[in-house]
Amino acid sequence: MAKIHRNYIGGRWVKTESPKTFRSTNPADPSDILGVFPESGSSDIAKAVEAARAALPDWRLVPPPKKGDLLMRAARLLEKDKESLARLMTREMGKVLKETRGDVQEAIDMAYYTAGEGRRLFGKTSTSELRNKFVMSVRRPVGVCGLITPWNFPVAIPSWKSFPALLCGNTVILKPSEDTPACASRFVEILAEAGFPAGVVNLVHGGSAAGAALVRHPEVDLISFTGSSEVGREVAGACGKSLKRCSLEMGGKNAQIVMEDADLDLALEGALWGAFGTTGQRCTATSRIFVHEKVYQRFLKSFVARAKKIRIGSGLRTGVEMGPLVNAQQMERVEEYISVGISESARLECGGRRVNTAALKKGFFFQPTVFSHVKPGMRIMQEEIFGPVVCVMAVKSFDEAIHHLNNTRYGLSSSIYTRDVNRAMKAIRDIEAGITYVNGPTIGAEVHMPFGGVKQTGNGHREAGEAGLDIFSEWKSVYVDFSGKLQKAQIDVD
Ligand code: UN1
Repeated sequence: MAKIHRNYIGGRWVKTESPKTFRSTNPADPSDILGVFPESGSSDIAKAVEAARAALPDWRLVPPPKKGDLLMRAARLLEKDKESLARLMTREMGKVLKETRGDVQEAIDMAYYTAGEGRRLFGKTSTSELRNKFVMSVRRPVGVCGLITPWNFPVAIPSWKSFPALLCGNTVILKPSEDTPACASRFVEILAEAGFPAGVVNLVHGGSAAGAALVRHPEVDLISFTGSSEVGREVAGACGKSLKRCSLEMGGKNAQIVMEDADLDLALEGALWGAFGTTGQRCTATSRIFVHEKVYQRFLKSFVARAKKIRIGSGLRTGVEMGPLVNAQQMERVEEYISVGISESARLECGGRRVNTAALKKGFFFQPTVFSHVKPGMRIMQEEIFGPVVCVMAVKSFDEAIHHLNNTRYGLSSSIYTRDVNRAMKAIRDIEAGITYVNGPTIGAEVHMPFGGVKQTGNGHREAGEAGLDIFSEWKSVYVDFSGKLQKAQIDVD
């Protein structure tokens, strides 16, 4: 019997009012059921909001170093649980164990990093234009934060959002993806065990109705969303209507440039990892590769040869390099894009099909796919596919490579392989993206650095690092006049 899960509200695992449920299944073998989860309705969301709001006045006043201590405890518990959480994650969303361990590690790093921030959380002191007056800026919490998270980083992304939110004095309601509710439940269990007071961390399961109710609830002060551009647009619209704080992290169409002076073997390893790691289901995944024409044929040949050799299978098995896509819908989407690419006259160099071997056909396994003969305006060159599909195109020069790389509505991650320091510096300056790697693939961001993208990838915020704190706090400027008289700024100028 599959385990029946509940929401976590006000420090208790509670039943939902709505009787509807959904199941979480293993994408490598959909007959393997991880659990049954409640489909929360708006009254369930309202309860979570009530609990989060009630906890706010006390939590706000807990000294940040003490909040940091709880995060430190969460870090240790995550460390203790790393292997079992990684296994659960592989079973629930498919990526290989090496990567799910990395996902948990990212949350551990985030917990330690943010815990340390508890003893910094620096504001600024400054000078005043008037005598005997002191000025400073301090952070204030925003309030109740709704966190809507995707399935591709089921523990890391909830950690990027919840840890800084909590440290800054907010209370949170996590609404995880319907594809990874078991990971979210385990994550919240760990936070509860770490000792966060009742109502400070809440978890509501469900799909788009639960998400919409959270976004629309007037007592939710902030929504932090990671997911598709389509949904992000709706979230932003709804938040705009009530002037709710809103941070969005959405699509990417990330590219890697390979110049003729690059270490080609290194560029090849990077491209394989960037394009096919996590089965291409990262916002930061490489989906376009621009290769200088002098090395294009050589690169393409080796890339295709290596792509064909990638070992596909259940991510729990040793030696497997690429797991399944997350669900049937994602499979359909990827298959659809293969037809689009073919109809646009791109050349399919390898892959393009779901894996039909007896052992794997019941799972959502898809072959690593490479398109060549692509043109910049093609849909497969412009739209986010979110699967193991990559387009490779020859370019004549560095300038042309940068031009094509920037020719997208997105701007999350980017990469250039070159041994020419001048080109590397120009790329850093001219690439329109939130992240640029030099001689590294487009994936692999670290938690202490700002994470996010330009153009339609986001709405101007950055998660992680110190920048992440800005999403979850508001600055207050403080003026302390100790002159004992009325001093007028901008007026008492002499
Ligand atoms: C994502 O795909 O949404 O940089 C996040 C990376 C990971 C995070 C990816 N550290 O690829």
